[in-house]
Amino acid sequence: MSVYLNGSYVPRESATVSVLDRGFVFGDGIYEVWRVVRGGLFEHERHVRRLVEGAEALRLTRPAELSRRALETMAARLLADAGLQAGEATFYVQVTRGVAPRTHHFPPEGTPPTVFAMVNPFSPPEALRVSGATAVTVPDVRWHRCNVKTIQLLPNAMAKQQAQERGALEAVLVRDGVVTEGSHTNVMAVVGGTIRTHPANELILAGVTRAVVLELAAELGIAVEERPVTLDELWGVDELFLTGTTTDVMPLVRVDDRVIGGGTSGPVSRALIAALHARMDATPVSKIE
Ligand code: PDD
Repeated sequence: MSVYLNGSYVPRESATVSVLDRGFVFGDGIYEVWRVVRGGLFEHERHVRRLVEGAEALRLTRPAELSRRALETMAARLLADAGLQAGEATFYVQVTRGVAPRTHHFPPEGTPPTVFAMVNPFSPPEALRVSGATAVTVPDVRWHRCNVKTIQLLPNAMAKQQAQERGALEAVLVRDGVVTEGSHTNVMAVVGGTIRTHPANELILAGVTRAVVLELAAELGIAVEERPVTLDELWGVDELFLTGTTTDVMPLVRVDDRVIGGGTSGPVSRALIAALHARMDATPVSKIE
């Protein structure tokens, strides 16, 4: 399987970056993950926009690859090479501030960013969606720029590891008594027929799936309130679910070994699962250049 690295398509085994890459030394970079459906990039525009906004937020030199068309071409080539044009896959892109002697301040102007991309096969967890998944609560110890999709994922990785060790799918992060999001997902609750979710501010990543699900909710006539659920409220919500590129809509039926709602996936979650899958099935298929 090939990966893209700084302008070339190379076998994954032989793709290497310098030990002085600021991504390696400082975690100084951003990334993006797309869902690929039958060769098409789901919600391509939104992912490109988030990547570009992330580059601007971190004052990264924006590489030529960060255009809608360049990314489409890159994905098409990688998918063709991997034989993944049919079925499901993910497309991953990472941009770091490039290679430079180690100093905390930014390297000199003109230091080229490192651009890396790969595709991977993906099988959505459909069986789990039917039974519903479990989660554990973990303190949200991250910085205050969670809206930027940086490669610095140590708090997220440690939270997810806690979930894994406790037999749960996801860690629900709690800061100052309110649910922010998951380690790699957004969290939504249904309370009295209204979807409640944390507002898209600097304390969460504004998920692409979150945005799509809120649009679908509006189309289905379900009320939405972008107001976080407190930890106290969590135990009494009617439904709870995760949203994310590799998660879609995933009902949560237990948190910290306490049953949520009726202990099964609820009607709002089920309606949104169906609507999201219909939207994905309508994803336009990218052309191979
Ligand atoms: N993560 N919140 C966090 C912290 C995330 O890392 C992600 C996505 C989301 C959901 O965003 P979206 O719907 O755009 O995927 C929310 C990706 C999938 C990852 O790190 O692999």
